[in-house]
Amino acid sequence: CGIVGYVGPQQSQAILLAGLARLEYRGYDSAGIAVIDADGELGMRKRAGKLKVLRDDLLEAPMPNGTTGIGHTRWATHGRPTDENAHPHLADNDKLAVIHNGIIENFSALKAELVAEGFTFLSETDTEVAAVLLGRAYRTNGGDLVAAFRVTAARLEGAFTLLAMHEDHPGLVVGARRNSPLVIGLGEGENFLGSDVAAFVEYTRKALAIGQDQIVAITPGGVVVTDFDGNEVEVEPFDVTWDAAAAEKGGWPSFMSKEVSEEPEAIANTLRGRINNGAVEIPELDGLDGLFEGISRIVVIACGTAAYAGQVGKYAIEQWARIPVDVELAHEFRYRDPVIGPDTLVVSISQSGETMDTLMAVKFARERGARTLSICNTQGATIPRESDAVVYTHAGPEVAVASTKAFVAQIAALYLLALHVARVRGTMSAEAIAEQVDELEAVPTKIQRILDTESARITELAHWMADTRSVLFLGRHVGFPIALEGALKLKEISYIHAEGFAAGELKHGPIALIEPGQPVFVIVPSPRASALLHSKVVSTIEEIRARGARVIAIAEEGDAAVLPTADEVLRIPLAAPLIEPLLAVVPLHLFAMGLATAKGLDVDQPRNLAKSVTVE
Ligand code: G6P
Repeated sequence: CGIVGYVGPQQSQAILLAGLARLEYRGYDSAGIAVIDADGELGMRKRAGKLKVLRDDLLEAPMPNGTTGIGHTRWATHGRPTDENAHPHLADNDKLAVIHNGIIENFSALKAELVAEGFTFLSETDTEVAAVLLGRAYRTNGGDLVAAFRVTAARLEGAFTLLAMHEDHPGLVVGARRNSPLVIGLGEGENFLGSDVAAFVEYTRKALAIGQDQIVAITPGGVVVTDFDGNEVEVEPFDVTWDAAAAEKGGWPSFMSKEVSEEPEAIANTLRGRINNGAVEIPELDGLDGLFEGISRIVVIACGTAAYAGQVGKYAIEQWARIPVDVELAHEFRYRDPVIGPDTLVVSISQSGETMDTLMAVKFARERGARTLSICNTQGATIPRESDAVVYTHAGPEVAVASTKAFVAQIAALYLLALHVARVRGTMSAEAIAEQVDELEAVPTKIQRILDTESARITELAHWMADTRSVLFLGRHVGFPIALEGALKLKEISYIHAEGFAAGELKHGPIALIEPGQPVFVIVPSPRASALLHSKVVSTIEEIRARGARVIAIAEEGDAAVLPTADEVLRIPLAAPLIEPLLAVVPLHLFAMGLATAKGLDVDQPRNLAKSVTVE
């Protein structure tokens, strides 16, 4: 869910709606705002559906504006996406408005307790329970909203960010967080709260990152942060480097199309400042060589697309730095008994830096004594703050729910990390490192070439395939995780059944799926790198063609071996074997987008998903 809060001299409705628009990628099942107007009355409006529904509703039937407000965009957990279940929720005779992100695990017990006391509920949500609890605490604490937060936080189990304001205190918004995101935006005579900096980047570049289990009270003139025991705490200021325009569509039909077009830039920016004369120098890792000494293995944890970036990274880290790497889905890692300890480096990958499954896995790894490094795209996010070190990807804000430019930036960052570790551990010569660095630096131009030369054809291909019911993706070596990514992207935004397989695994089962006309994308490795691997994949193509599959090959320029067997060949420029996935994924991103567009779907906000899943 996305959360925004404002106090200051300006009328808040437009600020709240603009903030929610920037946070809508966090959920778009329903949206709502609450405002304390000039007469000191609390008004609230909330609607099921995307933000537009709320916006239109407010245009049609305006509600009094005011200078203190909170807003919420929801990704449903407890309770269906209806008007009633949307946030804010009101309590204390409708004088208190509360919004929430996270899941309150003990909400049934709390609700039973409150029902027994005679409180009534309008919704099915855990949030309303928190609101009523907060309202009760407000009364028993003499109308002190911060004290009420302290008392309430002590009763809540699970993860949450809660924001509230009370009619008795215009000019005050109070928030609390436990494991869910919340950042402060510092303005002049005005202050903001947001799930992330996107909420207020239009108004201020100065931000404060607050820690876990803390309560923040903002007024137009100040910010006070305390822990759950009421002690004042220091907070870390940081400057927001994203500019507001970077989070605008800027003439593109969708955020996704803009973000795919930014893949070259995302990689170039991730490399920038980290390469010096053919050597990899990552300033964030200066003085942290110890992090890599004495480690015997690396475990990469992530979810979704980020996990596929991790799988690509595994090939590079093992080949270059000679350390065994396991890649695990964060939610699986956490709930078993993994063999990790001080000799393990846990590398988490997360665009948002807020994915709850990944965050919990990082915390768990730390408890087990592992060292932790985060690869993250969002400054001030929770996961990097909970890690021993961070290497930021500089993809810029990614708004479309399906990740594209962040994915390629994650691979670039992992490669830098692999080369860095290779140097620290002495597994590669300076020349060998310089060779790979050259290859990496050439990637942005090569991706640009794919975008320039193949986009139109891929869009056309996608158009023809708009009625397809199922698509398979095959790859080997680093092409395997790319096949998985190609399939995920198609599922996410086109709602078409798609599966990625290791090409070599096909004959052990999945080949039974092949029937005449079945479209299969095959990522063909370069014959220059390994004639053997290449010939194996070409044989796979022949095997499926013999069974009627319609083959779309992604192959390097000049690879003629695929011509007689493939129905379509999409070309990528020549590159070193480990660089190929950065190129091969581009046609797949374009294809998923083309197909979803051909089906008339919203590529930026696919059904049921949220970009940043901040619940476990
Ligand atoms: C969600 C999104 C995916 C994303 C995954 C990980 O499931 O829908 O697109 O890959 O989270 O997100 P993260 O922010 O941790 O990279």
